[in-house]
Amino acid sequence: MKNFLNDSVITLDPLKLPKHVAIIMDGNGRWAKSKGLPRAYGHKVGAEVAKKIIYKTRELGIPYLTLFAFSKENWFRPPEEISTLLELLKIYLDAELEEMKKQGIRFKVIGDKADFPKDLQEKLEFIEKTTQENEKMVLCMALSYGGKNEIIKAVKKLAEEIKEGKISPEEIDEGLFRKFLDTKDIPDPDLLIRTSGEMRISNFLLFQLAYTELYFTPIYWPDFDEKEYLKALYSYQQRERRFGRIYEP
Ligand code: FPP
Repeated sequence: MKNFLNDSVITLDPLKLPKHVAIIMDGNGRWAKSKGLPRAYGHKVGAEVAKKIIYKTRELGIPYLTLFAFSKENWFRPPEEISTLLELLKIYLDAELEEMKKQGIRFKVIGDKADFPKDLQEKLEFIEKTTQENEKMVLCMALSYGGKNEIIKAVKKLAEEIKEGKISPEEIDEGLFRKFLDTKDIPDPDLLIRTSGEMRISNFLLFQLAYTELYFTPIYWPDFDEKEYLKALYSYQQRERRFGRIYEP
């Protein structure tokens, strides 16, 4: 598989592509500030970049992409900024539904849909339902998502089932616990990309990132183009994944 990187050609091994890429799309605000523009403009360009990366992922044949689009902590931002983000989300959901259907993309939300206004909740549910049979790629959007919150919700549901006598504590293992997470039907990410130079996980997929390869780039999200994406995938392909074991060629 050949893709161009700068003036050189970068060859990605199609057999070594990650199955699941997760992205913390960070730096919209700082990108805008560095250009003397309002933060809202950074989010607008950021949303357009997200769209390009989604379809590039589909084109590469990577079957799962998870985007951290709105965290539990983002609710503490000024109301105008929250409105901008939710408005952008609505616009893109409406505009891209047909293309997602055409490209066989299943849309899935992790996080607390119930935190959003009713009309947005209904839109998210409608798109999840309409695309549920699509099999080419899963686009997973983390919305009002927090990793600690997801784990605590899972523990509560599990405790409830134990109380009702459906499960005994002895049965609990990793496989059973996973069934209570929002990500129950998707594999753990192989690669996590975070833009903007911050080297943190920021409460994203805390359980699922246990053996994920991490890739940090100083590029702000609105500047993260296809070339930067290919660089991240290339870096991933150079890694040796041992999952805590010893590598034996
Ligand atoms: C980080 O920039 C980005 C987010 C708050 C979420 C990601 C949002 C987008 C890519 C825009 C599209 C949004 C949706 C919901 C479709 P930041 O504001 O944290 O940047 P900063 O750290 O420089 O302030």
